[in-house]
Amino acid sequence: MNILILTGAGISAESGIPTFRDADGLWEGHAVEEVATPEGFARNPELVHRFYNERRRALQSPEIQPNAAHVALADFEQKHAARSAGDFLIVTQNIDDLHTRAGSRNVLHMHGELFKARCIYSNKLFAWRGDLGMDTPHPNAPENEKMRGCLRPHVVWFGEVPIGLEQIEDAATDADVFIAIGTSGLVYPAAGIVQLTKRSCRKIEINLGDTPASDAFDECRRGRASEEVPRLLAELT
Ligand code: NAD
Ligand code: APR
Repeated sequence: MNILILTGAGISAESGIPTFRDADGLWEGHAVEEVATPEGFARNPELVHRFYNERRRALQSPEIQPNAAHVALADFEQKHAARSAGDFLIVTQNIDDLHTRAGSRNVLHMHGELFKARCIYSNKLFAWRGDLGMDTPHPNAPENEKMRGCLRPHVVWFGEVPIGLEQIEDAATDADVFIAIGTSGLVYPAAGIVQLTKRSCRKIEINLGDTPASDAFDECRRGRASEEVPRLLAELT
């Protein structure tokens, strides 16, 4: 049985990370076009760096830990692998590292990762936990003044192509079970993954409420991810 999981900001909400579009979400206090587009970065790189520096610092605070939903997915993956029961992949739109911290192995970060920085010239990736700014030296050429400020957050902005689309498409086509957890179903291509699954694939949505994508699912379970995810995975075991 091949299982494909899609997660969004909702799965990390109970870990203390604000979602984007809910009340008090990140897009309430920030203009998307200023902080999450290549044009915004070109206009005001310091503002964009500040936005992601804050997110990166917050993610390192000891209060922010994986919750029961992340943990249940990691445990399930381990059991699934031990039984050689088929493929198990988590595709996440989240740029946090909570799936990995919970112990999940097969995780594809389609919108990038906050704890990575990318060179705008070579696209080389660097593990990154500190702040970034226009005066940040290049790790491979710290003395080179011209290379200062050439690292950007390794996140996918609006207008950019998400990561791993081919692998996601293959996993969707092969999935026997597809579970979308805590995503608003508004942002494509993530919101369209459910449409790529085969007719016989069992499609389940876990969310606090209905989304524009709900109609495409066979089952919609309403409630908190920390409760609904462990319950569903126990049923599947
Ligand atoms: P897109 O043009 O495909 O837009 C996706 C959908 O989202 C559209 O239906 C659009 O109407 C809707 N949308 C756009 N802005 C919205 C907003 N502020 N609130 C609600 N709905 C909105 O998006 P794209 O330009 O192809 O984006 C590329 C990718 O970058 C997307 O997958 C996006 O999720 C991602 N992204 C990542 C970050 C991040 O911080 N990691 C931030 C922004 C975008
Ligand atoms: N349990 C389950 N679902 C929840 C919970 C919870 N505890 N808390 C919130 N939700 C649901 C909300 O009902 C909402 O539908 O999670 C969803 C979060 O939606 P968004 O904030 O829009 O986040 P997401 O779908 O991940 O956004 C997609 O948009 O801004 C870009 O790149 C960014 O990856 C992000 C993408």
